[in-house]
Amino acid sequence: MQHSIGYVIGFAAAVCLVASLFVAGSAVGLKDLQEANKRLDVQKKVLTVAGLMDDDAGLSAEEIDALYSSSIQPKAIELKTGEPAGDVDLAEYDQQKAKKDPETSFEAPENDSKILRLPNEIVVFDIVRDGELEGLILPIEGYGLWGFLYGYLALEPDARTIRGITFYEHGETPGLGGEIDNPRWKAQWPGRLAFDERGNPAIAVKKGLAGPVDEDPYRVDGLSGATITSRGVTNLVRFWLGDDGFGPYLDKYRAEAS
Ligand SMILES: Cc1cc2nc3c(=O)[nH]c(=O)nc-3n(C[C@H](O)[C@H](O)[C@H](O)COP(=O)(O)O)c2cc1C
Repeated sequence: MQHSIGYVIGFAAAVCLVASLFVAGSAVGLKDLQEANKRLDVQKKVLTVAGLMDDDAGLSAEEIDALYSSSIQPKAIELKTGEPAGDVDLAEYDQQKAKKDPETSFEAPENDSKILRLPNEIVVFDIVRDGELEGLILPIEGYGLWGFLYGYLALEPDARTIRGITFYEHGETPGLGGEIDNPRWKAQWPGRLAFDERGNPAIAVKKGLAGPVDEDPYRVDGLSGATITSRGVTNLVRFWLGDDGFGPYLDKYRAEAS
């Protein structure tokens, strides 16, 4: 049986319509799920850097959400002054978006981390358990070898002793610069000191091996075969600890602790 041209075109159009409705429906339907997954991933990284969860703890989404809600308090600050920022919707805040908009960002001073713009307001986190401040979490980013590394640095409430570091996005080579994700390398950081006695950012990823925390408090093992990534991590951590980063915010915690 031969179908008319009109029938064939109509049939093809109907198939296209059904398929496109299916694709559009899935995209819309999955958006919430994607956003929930993204939120869960940020929560995991924040809890990991806080030292409240292991990388591979295998907790359910509900358990992660409960641990996060009971121990992590996000807050917005003005980057230049370190003072609390008013008008920021914490649930909607997106640092990368804020950085691109000239209304909500400013040109970064020259730096080794290839950071071009900085947000006026930035979201940081307090680790609070049983009403006690247990630590401070700062978002950090900067250039490695292949591109930007994005992560978090956690400090003890003295704002000087490091509690942890983690990167949640980077393009460094697995086995080389990608070793920044290695739990053994990350375990080098807690207990080391971010600032020297004069208050200058002092922590660095050295070439070769660092000594124990009490003998070599400002140095972390270098990543072998990845000197450029190692230098990138030193640069970006020092940038964010410095006057152009979170220095003004950390100052008051350091003053209280001394
Ligand atoms: C395929 C390839 C991937 C590399 N990936 C990295 C990397 O992720 N991070 C890095 O610092 N160096 C990387 N390197 C090495 C750098 O080009 C450079 O040689 C190295 O940083 C020097 O470090 P070293 O002094 O520890 O050997 C890579 C090299 C090659 C050929």
